[in-house]
Amino acid sequence: MSMPDPALNVLADGPIRAMVVLGTRPEAIKLAPVVRAMNASPAFDPIIVNSGQHREMLLPMLRTLGIAAGTDLAVMRDRQRLSELTGRLVNALDAVIADRRPDVVIVQGDTTTALCGALAASYERVPVAHVEAGLRTGNLANPFPEELNRQLIGRIARWHFTPTARAAAHLRAENVPDRNIITTGNTVIDNLHWMLAQDEGKPAFRTDLRRVLVTLHRRESQGAGMRELAGVLRRLADRGDCEVLLPLHKSPAVRESLVPTLKDHPAITICEPLDYPDFAATLAACDLVLTDSGGVQEEAPSLGKPVLVLRATTERPEAVEAGVARLVGTEPAHVLAAATRLLDDPAERAGMARAVNPFGDGKASNRIVTTLVRDCLRPDALFVPAFD
Ligand code: UD1
Ligand code: UDP
Repeated sequence: MSMPDPALNVLADGPIRAMVVLGTRPEAIKLAPVVRAMNASPAFDPIIVNSGQHREMLLPMLRTLGIAAGTDLAVMRDRQRLSELTGRLVNALDAVIADRRPDVVIVQGDTTTALCGALAASYERVPVAHVEAGLRTGNLANPFPEELNRQLIGRIARWHFTPTARAAAHLRAENVPDRNIITTGNTVIDNLHWMLAQDEGKPAFRTDLRRVLVTLHRRESQGAGMRELAGVLRRLADRGDCEVLLPLHKSPAVRESLVPTLKDHPAITICEPLDYPDFAATLAACDLVLTDSGGVQEEAPSLGKPVLVLRATTERPEAVEAGVARLVGTEPAHVLAAATRLLDDPAERAGMARAVNPFGDGKASNRIVTTLVRDCLRPDALFVPAFD
């Protein structure tokens, strides 16, 4: 990976104190390449803060990705409610930002940690860089609360690093000034390439049947909707020609919705969350993906894996437009029909199994750190309000 111009690394006031705030699995995955790029540059003195929104799903991930978080705010509670999580996070993040006084706070995506990191930074008048900016469904109920979080961060951030031209257009339509929008690609692709190059993972499938990889966790599907989707997965496994593999999210609500229907079937493998090397290897080895995950929708096309998106909306329509993903909703009959068609018809499957990269070329992190170095060298650029 080429690094920012070393000539830019000579900073009058010392290196840029960039505070990276993360707390969930996808934030770790998508910020890891940004942290690696900053660690490799003398222009940065990164400060990594783990909010602790996730615990079991995050700590092994941080180790695998080589991220040493100096601070763990350990806010996670069992069955945490959004309002109490938000309250704890804003308080704890404000304290750490006030104490460390970073030059910039970097947040990623649409989690409660990202929203609270952006809010706390703006209360402390520290400029915010938003990685994976501009994703929109326009529907505050779906995904919930992520669409709200993204829109709010979009009001706060100074730098909006967008994965695609469409995401940039969403921000322009919301009157974010052009000079604050930088289209970089999605850092998830940087990390996926890095991980597969390490060649450390093992696929988690147990059989030689056709391999269907499933992930489900969204709040808006939990309960009756997710139980019905579990019924569809069991019907697929009943075919006898495919293995359905589902690494389970740690959320108790997700487990209660899925496990009773999926357990004790010879063609269904349910397991604990996979560490990233194994998940990447499993994705690379599968024939078909069924998911409601944002990150998986971005990674699968890059590896030429057909994706059925089990959601009512997607903020990542680029893969659908490229013909490698289908938005099939959550209605059980539709999901079953779409999956059956792909499993029955090899030509249909092959038509979607094309490796494309609508979400990035693997160089997003480099563009992000280069932009931050350029702008942090100009103190007037730092405190430009997001809106003129
Ligand atoms: C969060 C994000 C979502 C993201 C997902 C990634 C918000 C509002 N949502 O959703 O955008 O897609 O992370 O996975 O920020 N839990 C554990 N151990 C863990 C992780 C979670 O027990 O390691 C439990 C928590 O106690 C909690 C539940 O799982 O009760 C849900 O976790 P939470 O962070 O509230 O939301 P997610 O559904 O994980
Ligand atoms: N992932 C993983 N192990 C698993 C399931 C997913 O490492 O068992 C990775 C996956 O590669 C993707 C990310 O987790 O990069 C997606 O996280 P999640 O689905 O929890 O959140 P979302 O992307 O929907 O916000």
